[in-house]
Amino acid sequence: MNLAAELDTSIFHLISEASQKLNLKSYVIGGYVRDLLLKRYSKDIDIVCAGSGIRLAEEVARMNGRDTSVTVFKNFGTAMLKIGDTEIEFVGARKESYRRESRKPIVEDGTLEDDQLRRDFTINALALSLNKENYGELIDPFDGVKDLKKKLIKTPQDPDVTFSDDPLRMMRAIRFASQLGFDINPESFDSIQKNKERIDIVSKERVTDELNKIILSNPPSYGFKLLFYSGLLEIILPEMVKLHGVETIEGKSHKDNFFHTLQVLDNVSKESDNLWLRWAAILHDIAKPQTKRFEPKHGWTFHGHEDLGAKMVPQIFSKLKLPLNEKMQFVKKLVRLHLRPIALVKDDVTDSAIRRLLFEAGEDIEDLMRLCNADITSKNYDRVKRYMANFRKVEKKMQEIEEKDKLRNFRPALDGEDIMKIFNIPPGREVGVIKNEIKEALLDGLVPNEYGTLYQYAVNVGKKLGLTVNSKN
Ligand code: CTP
Repeated sequence: MNLAAELDTSIFHLISEASQKLNLKSYVIGGYVRDLLLKRYSKDIDIVCAGSGIRLAEEVARMNGRDTSVTVFKNFGTAMLKIGDTEIEFVGARKESYRRESRKPIVEDGTLEDDQLRRDFTINALALSLNKENYGELIDPFDGVKDLKKKLIKTPQDPDVTFSDDPLRMMRAIRFASQLGFDINPESFDSIQKNKERIDIVSKERVTDELNKIILSNPPSYGFKLLFYSGLLEIILPEMVKLHGVETIEGKSHKDNFFHTLQVLDNVSKESDNLWLRWAAILHDIAKPQTKRFEPKHGWTFHGHEDLGAKMVPQIFSKLKLPLNEKMQFVKKLVRLHLRPIALVKDDVTDSAIRRLLFEAGEDIEDLMRLCNADITSKNYDRVKRYMANFRKVEKKMQEIEEKDKLRNFRPALDGEDIMKIFNIPPGREVGVIKNEIKEALLDGLVPNEYGTLYQYAVNVGKKLGLTVNSKN
């Protein structure tokens, strides 16, 4: 196979000339070649050469001119440079494991084939020659192209060696399988099951990074099933594994909340690429195991799982080193509110109940509705249809009220500062009480949201609390 035409760009010709000048062989390798064959766009290029990657990078930079700067990582024997918005990493072929983040200094130079053997998967070990005599020739000693065609993730050598060189590769195997819709070769998968505990020596950040990529693949349930059956999920997110299983008492069973969660995650993923909405789907029922009860009259109940689940969100985020910022708050809010829209599917639902939900969800109302919609799963088609129809009614009503009352970025026309001025009081309990009464009256539709009316309302509430109006007002 000759891919010379694909390498007919100034960057590759430049690297080729620099290599020739230094009298060393160089190759494009790894993800760039894989993506080229898969016709996926990839902008980061990895170059491997027989010799010093740092010297080659420096020569390329010199020839490119215009102050091209090289970043050298001496310990790893690698160098990086940027041309336009393309990042190019250079490395000398080596005998020991290739890992971008490895802290181990390189000790032994190797041939191209040594280097390919030490990479993670056959599809990531493909190389394209940049040398004059065979420019664009594909060098594929481990049948990576065959595995690309077979849609197979497979290690180039004994998987126990590949995975112990860098246990993160177990996550990478599942991530690539999920992103590309590939299978994992049975021998490699068995090895993941066998070596799963070793994932603990990898930093949480790197594991979570791969987990997020699995969550963003489509459909994410595929990667999660691989994580589950390999045993990795039990180690990295045991709370989720606890959702698995069905219990039956007096002939009544509850659903398997693990597979239900995966269904909700897939449903939400069809509608949105938002990582955090996907996380909300993963965690929406996370407290079901702890809140599960069997009540002879009602069957299985999970009372309060939304509140306990919301409390678990920061703990889980912190354990996984996910950000503890507004993204976490968003997930927490959606978990806490995920039952609310469905509770409104009643004929006698009041405007006030809808206003309250609009107010609490604020600008996240659409995502909440997406999650709630995705949560309507059942094997009973008629039931889903009926629920969906009712749900549409709630959505419609919500739109009407939102248009009328503009609750999304709702702010009472009179705030705490105003209250303190009216009664000449410092911040304290009374201010909170009055503020809350105003909010309740607004949400119940008892008063319009305008300063004059709210002023009078605040005065009346204050008087009941024994406050007097500041005469300077
Ligand atoms: N690699 C490896 N083992 C690792 C990480 C990387 O063998 N733990 C090798 C693979 O040959 C891989 C290349 O280094 O193709 C580049 O790694 P990276 O940039 O992390 O991944 P890509 O394959 O480029 O894929 P993506 O950009 O989707 O992460």
